[in-house]
Amino acid sequence: MARRHFTSFVCNVGLALGAGAVQASDISLRHGGVTLLGELVLAEQEVGPLVVLTHGTLAHKDMELIETLQDALAEEGVSSLAHTLSLGVDSRSGMADCTMVHTHRDTDADGEIAAWIDWLRTRGHDDLALMGHSRGAKQVARTAAARDDLAAVILLAPSTKASAERQRAAYDVLLGDLEKGGEAGRFDLGSTATVAALSEAASARPDDELLVPNLLYCPDATVTGAAFASYYPPEAAGAETYADAVDAPILVIAGGADKVVPGVPAAFMPLRDEALRFEVIEDADHMFLDFYAEDAAVLIAAFLADLPKPEGIVDFETEHAAAYAVADVDYGEYLAQECASCHRAGGQDVPAINGYEAWQTHLALAQYENGERENDAMRLVARSLDEEQKIAVAAYFATLDAE
Ligand code: HEC
Repeated sequence: MARRHFTSFVCNVGLALGAGAVQASDISLRHGGVTLLGELVLAEQEVGPLVVLTHGTLAHKDMELIETLQDALAEEGVSSLAHTLSLGVDSRSGMADCTMVHTHRDTDADGEIAAWIDWLRTRGHDDLALMGHSRGAKQVARTAAARDDLAAVILLAPSTKASAERQRAAYDVLLGDLEKGGEAGRFDLGSTATVAALSEAASARPDDELLVPNLLYCPDATVTGAAFASYYPPEAAGAETYADAVDAPILVIAGGADKVVPGVPAAFMPLRDEALRFEVIEDADHMFLDFYAEDAAVLIAAFLADLPKPEGIVDFETEHAAAYAVADVDYGEYLAQECASCHRAGGQDVPAINGYEAWQTHLALAQYENGERENDAMRLVARSLDEEQKIAVAAYFATLDAE
């Protein structure tokens, strides 16, 4: 599949152009005895937190919706990491194989999302938002409800309690039909008449491999009792079940023509307040095909750009605000001659730093110096400037307009 045609920096007369360039890399991470696969897409000039993206039921990170979202978010300046839930399979890729023995549980996703958060944090990405699609959104909401270290939560066509109940009702109909056709007996859980009773019978045999009529979208599936019971728990839950317990601001996006989870507005409209923003993209289906994913990315980027800055950065800026205000901008301009050999005179390249707020340039210089950011050229530059000079040059670049 042709993807990420703009992964490498675009070159022009030997200079890398900043705008729109992104860097994509495949990441693997050991967790729970298997290797998890992820794709990190870093936007050149980051806006807001990095978004960790979780796909829907039995899907994967390379599905069209997730790829399109990552690319479109990067164009809006939003970095992201999309990951494929392992479902207990080593280096799983592509759609889940229905014929495997399903040992995975719905709640396994929470541990995998947490593992990616830890991985990102060890690499200096502290400011994180979680986003999920469909069932992934429910898993993200549940994960977010249990933490207090997230900048934002984005729920795209999230599974709702009503959609879970509708699935169960459909399952009950299926069980009834099997019973009438005399077919129910070929399943290990027998002709137990309802999904609730099946769930109870399955949870009593957590480690047994059972043949069941249906698991999620898989027809005759072999599952462990624990796996079945986790996907069909006694109480149906949806993303809205957890929304109240989420500390971070939430953005919910519904597709106006979503036939898979049609109840999103009904579930979330009543929850709207300062902490929960709700948007409908008219005519978008559950997969946001036909450019609606790009529309979603624009909404998401705007939402993230509006967030209050994370505390560490607010502190850094506040701490130095007085110094920026009285900084010697002329001295900064003089010092900036040194920067021009790479960033060009106006600071518009490699990457562009014109129009950066003073704290952005200042913080970046401090981070190159202390090793939090790695770049040999910039470390030398940062080391050559004392604190007063860093502030002066940062104050000078803040006076230049962005392109
Ligand atoms: C020898 C070339 C070179 C010189 C000289 C140089 N820079 Fe850089 N600068 C770079 C490169 C390359 C990067 C990107 C490094 C990276 O990927 O982290 C960078 C990154 C930066 C960034 C971070 C941009 C971002 O969005 O992450 C800032 C801020 C910056 N430089 C400021 C300066 C200032 C101020 C000066 C002059 C005092 C300067 N640079 C001089 C090459 C240079």
